[in-house]
Amino acid sequence: MTDYYETDEQLGQYMDFHYGPEHFGVPNFPETCAERCLAVKPRGERALDLGCATGRSTFELARGFDHVLGLDLSQRFIDAAEQLRSAGELSYRLTDEGEISHEETASLNALGLSETAGRIRFEVADAGNLPDELSGYDLIFAGNLIDRMPNPGTFLQDIHQRLNPGGVLVVTSPYTLLPDFTPRAHWIGGYYDSHGEPVTVLDGMKERLHPHLELIQKPEDVPFVIRETRRKHQHTLAQLTVWGEGV
Ligand SMILES: C[S@@+](CC[C@H](N)C(=O)[O-])C[C@H]1O[C@@H](n2cnc3c(N)ncnc32)[C@H](O)[C@@H]1O
Repeated sequence: MTDYYETDEQLGQYMDFHYGPEHFGVPNFPETCAERCLAVKPRGERALDLGCATGRSTFELARGFDHVLGLDLSQRFIDAAEQLRSAGELSYRLTDEGEISHEETASLNALGLSETAGRIRFEVADAGNLPDELSGYDLIFAGNLIDRMPNPGTFLQDIHQRLNPGGVLVVTSPYTLLPDFTPRAHWIGGYYDSHGEPVTVLDGMKERLHPHLELIQKPEDVPFVIRETRRKHQHTLAQLTVWGEGV
């Protein structure tokens, strides 16, 4: 599934998801997630946005952080995010029906994000294999990333090493558990254990993040809508969890 996020179709969907209008009254997801991050850590020097896609949460996090690095495995998404950052505008195509599409333009000015563009960087990288120098972060945000990774368990076990003391990890996920992205052997939850007890992904996250990080606030459901065509949308409920050193 490594090419899944490299197509025109996915680019259009994610540009609309990040920079387009609200659908069915559901607030913009990356903007809401960044608001939640900034509610926990209103100010900081360095933030890391893993699986940033076309970059909206990266721009939003720079409202509170001096330096924000947005990383994604998709070259296509990172090229789009970087073009929007440097030019201030980016046009993209949205599918209406079948082969019919129309053009839209995202504008940083219109979204009040021009000023943050100077504090962010975008790069292609694998969140499951990050270079050692990517550490010392006050906040790490992983938005709807863990259920797209081949081995989310090792990612979660290691991520605390990249946080500063007092740093916070914010994860969102709809826990969709698709074997095409995460082989069944690497699921961290979403199954019954040998005693027939359900193990949720939240249980699996607690186990992998402990003892370095623990839940520091109540998990929150955050809905989102992704427009596929003029008449078809995905309406999903992610769970947002905030992890820190505890009290
Ligand atoms: C479901 S999308 C979520 C994107 C964005 N965070 C959001 O909430 O809109 C998952 C993103 O993670 C990226 N991704 C998947 N595996 C990755 C990996 N190993 N390292 C970095 N990014 C990855 C994909 O390219 C895609 O942009």
